[in-house]
Amino acid sequence: AETGCLSIIVLGASGDLAKEKTFPALFHLYCQGFLPPSEVHILGYARTKISDDELRNRIAGLTDILIEPADIFSVREAVKYVSGSYDSAEGFQLLDKEIAMHEISKSSQEVSSRRLFYLALPPSVYPPVYRMIRKYCMNKYIKYFPADLSGWTRVVVEKPFGKDLDSAELLGSQIGELFDEPQIYRIDHYLGKELVQNLVINISSGRFANRFFLPLWNCDNIDNVRIVFREDFGTEGHGGYFDEYGIIRDIIQNHLLQVFCLVAMEKPVSLKPEHIRDEKVKVLQSVLPIKDEEVVLGQYEGYRDDVTVPDHSNTPTFATVILRIHNERWEGIPFILKAGKALKKGRYTCEKQGRNEFVIRLQPSEAMYMKLTMSYDQSYCFYECCFHVCRLSFMLQHVKQPGLEMSAVQSELDLSVMRLGQRYQGVMIREAYERLVLDTIRGDQQHFVRRDELKAAWKIFTPLLHRIDNEADELSAKAGYVQTHGYIWALPPHR
Ligand code: BG6
Repeated sequence: AETGCLSIIVLGASGDLAKEKTFPALFHLYCQGFLPPSEVHILGYARTKISDDELRNRIAGLTDILIEPADIFSVREAVKYVSGSYDSAEGFQLLDKEIAMHEISKSSQEVSSRRLFYLALPPSVYPPVYRMIRKYCMNKYIKYFPADLSGWTRVVVEKPFGKDLDSAELLGSQIGELFDEPQIYRIDHYLGKELVQNLVINISSGRFANRFFLPLWNCDNIDNVRIVFREDFGTEGHGGYFDEYGIIRDIIQNHLLQVFCLVAMEKPVSLKPEHIRDEKVKVLQSVLPIKDEEVVLGQYEGYRDDVTVPDHSNTPTFATVILRIHNERWEGIPFILKAGKALKKGRYTCEKQGRNEFVIRLQPSEAMYMKLTMSYDQSYCFYECCFHVCRLSFMLQHVKQPGLEMSAVQSELDLSVMRLGQRYQGVMIREAYERLVLDTIRGDQQHFVRRDELKAAWKIFTPLLHRIDNEADELSAKAGYVQTHGYIWALPPHR
């Protein structure tokens, strides 16, 4: 394992993302021993002029019962703050000085410096921040010592990565001119979720290696695939950001598309990050253009009452988009991607009778199970078949061991309900951000979005998004609204 000073610098330290996600993830990792106090120091950077203690108080409130009060005290003390603007040499020179001071005090004999810059910032300030880091804050040892000894500089960025293909490419080239792809970690926090990671393991050792699923995973046996995101609350004061982006950019183009890739892609050559990401790009490139008649948009009633939302906003808060893949495995199968904010609780039911369903529930209460509809005769045959299958031990399914490690363990595929929480008692299912931050430190890019992957994802949605943006006003006049269950439904755009 790498040693030497590890500096984690959270830019945008006084903002919501840092407070709600980045710092809690760092604190948990610290308290679990993943960030050794002898090596790590955490620095917050933002424009607000506050003291170390003020920042510590702002990000306090860690109430996790599993963490000892003494640990909380120690992690708080590990946080320092530097204030400065996002485009001034002065601020970043000060930041560099602060980092260097810790490197000298922590490393004694070592020549290693690991610098992780986490941009918890709006994308509008990404370009100047990239330039400032590049100019003033890079690891200084790398010039004089071999890379494996001298450490690294890495940059973590959060979505939104642009608003369409062109803006994403522009952002991509701005960062690409200053940093190499292995230094860039684009977070899609869905890739850090326990069951999304389980899907990755399943691709290599479950879905494809397992004879129970292998013959089924194709268009001859699967009628449709539904990937559903539902939140029962609305924008609630965060409408400013959301209204500019809408549900397709906020959820479908990234989070749901990642799940789509993992379900639909072919088996990668290995579990190496590049091999997995190569397969994702291939499946994205095989997606056919989205058809107008396979899109439904909507906005929930009351969305415009949020004071942060413009009065006449046409931004969709709900969308269903059907994706179709042009390849042998999935020809003709609809992948129904559906996402909505402020959607009432309810079941998404299958309208046809007699269909079997394989369900992977990412949240809440992670679970994987099969719903089987069978007549008495069928069930008899089914149990017969299970019996044989069991005897041949094909029922043994590889699943990901819950927790922060990416290893597979054998478990029986419980055909009623397999709840990870029940089965692996005492193992905490970790927050997505914790895993992802740990991966950035370990240098594992498997669960991060590569530039060509992002490009392929934007290519799929950009024509639709442009049409929605350009025709938003026309759409509301032309399509008319039909109101159902407190939701305003807009018909799909037709040219
Ligand atoms: C974020 C979106 O990326 O994901 C939010 O911007 C959304 O709008 C959130 O609420 C959902 O994340 P999770 O982990 O709660 O499903």
